[in-house]
Amino acid sequence: MKFFLDSAKLDEIKLAYNTFGIDGVTTNPRHIMLSGKPFMTAITDIANWIKEEGLEGVDKFPVSVEINPHFDKAEDMVEMARKVAKISPNFVIKIPAIEPGITAARILEKEGIRTNVTLIFSPSQAILPAKNGSLFVSPFIGWKEQNGEDCKEYIKNIVEIYKNYGFYGKTQIICAAIRTPKQIADCAVAGADIVTCGLAVFQDCMKHAYTNQGLNTFCEAWDNTVTE
Ligand code: E4P
Repeated sequence: MKFFLDSAKLDEIKLAYNTFGIDGVTTNPRHIMLSGKPFMTAITDIANWIKEEGLEGVDKFPVSVEINPHFDKAEDMVEMARKVAKISPNFVIKIPAIEPGITAARILEKEGIRTNVTLIFSPSQAILPAKNGSLFVSPFIGWKEQNGEDCKEYIKNIVEIYKNYGFYGKTQIICAAIRTPKQIADCAVAGADIVTCGLAVFQDCMKHAYTNQGLNTFCEAWDNTVTE
């Protein structure tokens, strides 16, 4: 399973990559806003860091960049996507799962511009992007579970549909808006390719109260043992 960091903050991206390791990045307009930088500056800074690290290439380290969410015409989406895609070979254009978005993603994939169809909330929404060859689909987990839904079946169903029709692994499933380590495990059990979450959720994954308790026990034993 691949781990993507859901952030546009370069310091967070560097920290995650250099310490525990991540396989890519996803951003959205809210993350760009939180970076405190203008849109073009935020994504260009990420593109420059990718170059410095020698990570160029969408297969090495994909970075999803979302286009203007106000667009409701495929032509406008395609025009902005082409401009953004020119900035880095790692950029995957994030497009909403609405009708013009599906059309735009279809056009872009035919041109070789890779796409991530986002804001997916049902298994049926995940089918057309796969038929059109999108690199990623992003079903949202946290937003649904916050509203009382359990997402295990939802992700399992997308995985099963993709396996039934040969899409599995070609259009990769990024489980998005992950809020807890348990949700990461649920997505992994269901067979999702990728999870994307904020730094704090990955940091929570590296913590367990029993691990600390165990360390205390072993430290106590160590302190009561003669070393040599
Ligand atoms: C996914 O690709 C999105 O960027 C993200 O997970 C959206 O959710 P959030 O901003 O509520 O975490």
